[in-house]
Amino acid sequence: MSDAAISEQPDPVVAEDHELKRTLGPVHLTMIGIGAIIGAGIFVYTGQVAAAYAGPAVLISFVIAAFGCLFAGLCYAEFASMIPVSGSAYTYAYATMGRFMAWFIGWNLVLEYLVSSSAVAVGWSGYFTELMNILHINFPASLANAPLCVIGDPPPCPHIDPVAGYGWTAFLHQFGHTGAIMNLPAAGLILVLTFILVAGMRESANTNAIMVGIKLVVVLLVIAFGASYINWDYFKPFIPPNTTGQFGRFGWSGIAQGSAIIFFAYIGFDSVSVAAQECRRPQRDLPIGILASLFICTALYIVISVVLLGMTYYPTMLDVANPVSFAVGKISDLKWLVPVIDVGASVGLASTIFVGLYGQSRIFYSMSRDGFLPRMFAAVHPRFKTPHRGTLITGIAAAVIAAIFPTNLLGQLVSIGTLLAFVVVCAGIMILRVQAPNAKRPFKTPLVWVVAPLGILFCGGMMWSLPTDTWIRLVIWTAVGVAIYFVYGVWHAAPSKWQVKNEA
Ligand code: ALA
Repeated sequence: MSDAAISEQPDPVVAEDHELKRTLGPVHLTMIGIGAIIGAGIFVYTGQVAAAYAGPAVLISFVIAAFGCLFAGLCYAEFASMIPVSGSAYTYAYATMGRFMAWFIGWNLVLEYLVSSSAVAVGWSGYFTELMNILHINFPASLANAPLCVIGDPPPCPHIDPVAGYGWTAFLHQFGHTGAIMNLPAAGLILVLTFILVAGMRESANTNAIMVGIKLVVVLLVIAFGASYINWDYFKPFIPPNTTGQFGRFGWSGIAQGSAIIFFAYIGFDSVSVAAQECRRPQRDLPIGILASLFICTALYIVISVVLLGMTYYPTMLDVANPVSFAVGKISDLKWLVPVIDVGASVGLASTIFVGLYGQSRIFYSMSRDGFLPRMFAAVHPRFKTPHRGTLITGIAAAVIAAIFPTNLLGQLVSIGTLLAFVVVCAGIMILRVQAPNAKRPFKTPLVWVVAPLGILFCGGMMWSLPTDTWIRLVIWTAVGVAIYFVYGVWHAAPSKWQVKNEA
């Protein structure tokens, strides 16, 4: 830490068994980024956003979301190079905006990491059950689906007239019971990955690298084999008109709302910064990992989306749980590829969950070291050198959420929470430029006074376009977080130990 722009004050409470092992390099970091980024967004949500919100113009939604992430990613890279400790946006907020904002952002990061792992696990179970079907194994539907649904979802969600207003009754009337018991595969996978994570970071990074490799091969196979079957008529009209007058149903409002939902597909590049305390040269390698994984994934998303939309007419993808294998399966010459995609997507989505759980346990680790959470979250296993208790608690919570809730509810909540964290990071980087203009910045956000405000504009705009129900859930989530802060955090958290050294 000696050459960092932010100095850490000694923490007398943190003993030797609270230190993590530094084993990761730039390739591992980029793989962590790609592992976190490519997941349910492309394998599940692309089809749904095209079919229900934007049509072929989902490509524009992808571009808008990519710009929001690029601007935020550049701000993340500067922060990550200055404050190379695990904790990500939470630590950056702590260093620049004080205790309450740190907790506020840390709490929202639970949506980005823990809840998104649950969302992806639910998406994973769609590919998993399809694979079981191909193998003629009949996995009972009642054990592979969420018992809860959001009223308005297609059957088996019951049709109930919504209750008007924003009260408690209206809130509870958003939810219905599908008749299913729980999503067992989703919860089971999370628990298995949790145990691998507990076993060790080096082993985990290698497991992750293999899973990411398989995921990339599947994406490239779809692009390579599907490209020659693109029917360009499926792209007409490119922007289907909004005929109902309802915000978000095609037209430009559909593109806007679609971008906020498809934003989910980019979430994860910042998890590279969470590995700060486990990489060998954080100041140099963190910006490389963040930006490289973001660029690689953006390029892949645009290309694979063109191929998918060209293979199947977008309205047919409505409520399809596995749109990639569905689209490929529409081409009779490519049916052989379907099981390969199902296997690859299952492995690939598992790697996304893996990085999400990893990120969450490290953020809890940082928050615990700062006193916001009980010390057990920072305890490091003497042999495995991983924060085993925090990892287990994270995994169990994510498994319970995955067992109960549907993917669309989780996905939108994750998007809005993460967008909020990105807005704060963009604001934080400007605050730090004013507070400590001469601090050492191994990576400097170019044109920061343009890039950071654009990040706020793009990410804030995407938040704005999400449905009111999602905003209400964010408010409830935040209220719970604020309550926990005043019951626990405010009494235990130390003042920020990250002090800005304002010198060149
Ligand atoms: N970006 C990740 C995904 O699409 C969260 O699954």
